[in-house]
Amino acid sequence: MRVLVTGGAGFIGAPVVALLTAAGHDVVAFDVLHPAAHRGPHDAASDVDVPLVRGDVRDPGAVAAALRGVDVVVHQAAMVGMGTDMADVPEYVGCNDLGTAVLLAGMARAGLRRLVLASSMVVYGEGTYACPAHGAVRPAPRAVDDLAAGRFEPTCPRCAAPLLPGLVDEDAPLEPRSVYAATKVAQEHLTAAWAATVGANAVALRYHNVYGPRMPRDTPYSGVAAIFRSALEHGVAPRVFEDGGQRRDFIHVHDVAMANAAALDATGGPPVGFRAYNVASGRPHTVGELAATLATACGGPPPVVTGEFRAGDVRHVVASPERARRELGFTATVSFEEGVAALSRAPLRV
Ligand code: UD1
Repeated sequence: MRVLVTGGAGFIGAPVVALLTAAGHDVVAFDVLHPAAHRGPHDAASDVDVPLVRGDVRDPGAVAAALRGVDVVVHQAAMVGMGTDMADVPEYVGCNDLGTAVLLAGMARAGLRRLVLASSMVVYGEGTYACPAHGAVRPAPRAVDDLAAGRFEPTCPRCAAPLLPGLVDEDAPLEPRSVYAATKVAQEHLTAAWAATVGANAVALRYHNVYGPRMPRDTPYSGVAAIFRSALEHGVAPRVFEDGGQRRDFIHVHDVAMANAAALDATGGPPVGFRAYNVASGRPHTVGELAATLATACGGPPPVVTGEFRAGDVRHVVASPERARRELGFTATVSFEEGVAALSRAPLRV
């Protein structure tokens, strides 16, 4: 099959291109080499020999040309992360939402009906919580005063009791708490509307915290694993925010590529519309554990727990990987220990 991978030169897109090529697909990598992710010479799909089409998903002409002869689209192109400030908002919305809109319009025109969308766990906001007295509750965003006083755990909106974090599944309400998160929710909604309107199959993969080789270096758009790894490379201790007890599901980029391959197969049946899946290992770790494990593996200085906090950060997001296992046959294979040890030796993207 001919597969167009947008964002095909990226940290996740390049391994997707490599894996799909190895599986025998005819892959076209499409990428604008956005400066937020590519500051040096690109190393797109460096392990495979595929054409890289340099183009912007916001450009209808470039998208129409790239879609020629294509059977399935795997849409990874996006601006990710926290960003710098509100000046970033138009670029986030342009790349992520206008870009998706242009792609969907191009696919509709070309009669294409199969799409895999890179989404994110950020669509959930805070994870799932239960109050011992009130059952399942949705905590409000944490107050700055609480964070400044070192009260990091969300509390029950009814009785202020400490909450127990649970597993987020795909039916959890969407509650974006950052600009990036809002653009990912909009991408999902646009894609669902497209799929329902044209009679297509769209699979949205809600990536949890992806790490692995060729992560972008420390930038305002990088995830925490890249930030810690960059610091350690310079002999600097990782700075762990809050008290380090925030929980995430760190998933290796190789597993994320495997999930994309499984999702691509799943788009092949009769049209069922839009379906979302967590892409997670199912084995959560704290940010403090990540810092300590990586520091040991790098032989670097131990982490410093700073008590700093970022506006918009959520406390715990721990996923259920069950739906992806059941319906896509996807299970992560790289353990945290193995993946973090490999990250300590792996090159980052310049
Ligand atoms: C993700 C998004 C973020 C968004 C948030 C909530 C990415 C990279 N981040 O964050 O833009 O606002 O969901 O929707 O997509 N940390 C440290 N030290 C550091 C940097 C980060 O301890 O130097 C901590 C953070 O406070 C956070 C954790 O590491 O608790 C993970 O941070 P990050 O990698 O940005 O991912 P998410 O919080 O999951």
